Amino acid sequence: MLQKFERYPLTFGPTPIEKLGRLSEHLGGAVELYAKRDDCNSGLAFGGNKLRKLEYIVPDAIASNADTLVTIGGVQSNHTRQVAAVAAKLGMKCRLVQESWVPFEDAVYDRVGNILMSRVMGAEIELVDEGFDIGIRESWERAIEDVKARGGKPYPIPAGASVHRLGGLGYVGFAEEVRAQEAELGFAFDYIVVCTVTGSTHAGMLVGFARDGRADRVVGIDASGTPAQTRAQVMEIARNTAALVELGRDIADDDLVLLEDYAHPAYGVPSAETNEAIRLAARTEGMMTDPVYEGKSMQGMIDLVRKGYFPPGSRVLYAHLGGVPAINGYSYVYRNG
Ligand SMILES: Cc1ncc(COP(=O)(O)O)c(C=O)c1O
Repeated sequence: MLQKFERYPLTFGPTPIEKLGRLSEHLGGAVELYAKRDDCNSGLAFGGNKLRKLEYIVPDAIASNADTLVTIGGVQSNHTRQVAAVAAKLGMKCRLVQESWVPFEDAVYDRVGNILMSRVMGAEIELVDEGFDIGIRESWERAIEDVKARGGKPYPIPAGASVHRLGGLGYVGFAEEVRAQEAELGFAFDYIVVCTVTGSTHAGMLVGFARDGRADRVVGIDASGTPAQTRAQVMEIARNTAALVELGRDIADDDLVLLEDYAHPAYGVPSAETNEAIRLAARTEGMMTDPVYEGKSMQGMIDLVRKGYFPPGSRVLYAHLGGVPAINGYSYVYRNG
């Protein structure tokens, strides 16, 4: 589906699929859980889902003769850290706007984890005191203008690399990769669980799995806490991406499964259930997840197994999209494990 698009390699190649045997057993053993480890996809500053997306965006950035990548996220954004790494690798400058998206106060929140790495990688960081919003932000538009005013040539990348023309392609590629791995494994997954916030990860998967009739088997766990906006953004990106790759059919509203029960109390703030899920995955599998994204999709998957959402015998693939560096910003929550 992606042959006609240029791809700049930023990842190691296909990511491993790992059986989560002890977690499956702990939850009763009727459902087989697996993880696709996109958290281990690259040597660029711990990797993650944005690198898959950026592989299809970087050729456009290079062709534009830009000298500065400009993007935006929260203070502990994984996305901005990955853009900083890509800029370093390409020999470009990086300008990051980091807004106060998370109502959470840990003494070291703006010093450790993702933002620490972005600073070490040489990004210029502006902290802006604005709340959570996955849409286009004025602060980001101002940063783009500022780079121009200082004689630079900016390449704008929106939050999560999502509402970019090419932002959905990376996770179309994820679906193609899973299909090839399924052929080797000798079975196909019945469900794919994914954490959804700015939308292009889920949207790309919708298009990629629509190819073999599994669009509605992608179970999105909303971690934004603003699910109406996330739903609309996923649909818009999915429809644009379907047209771009010439899928040959439209994406219908009921192709999109987005579960809203796990984002509470707010974006970036873990609930007691989120923390229970993070500890359970860590203690049964040695697999770390974070309190903003993957801990919430892990919480969702565990709850769905317990509730019997997946019929007995189902094989469920958890897309591990990265994000663990942010856990350092929650040092007080996990001070006793
Ligand atoms: C670790 C992690 N998981 C999930 C997501 C959600 O992906 P998307 O923003 O494409 O919906 C993000 C980014 O927002 C992320 O950094």
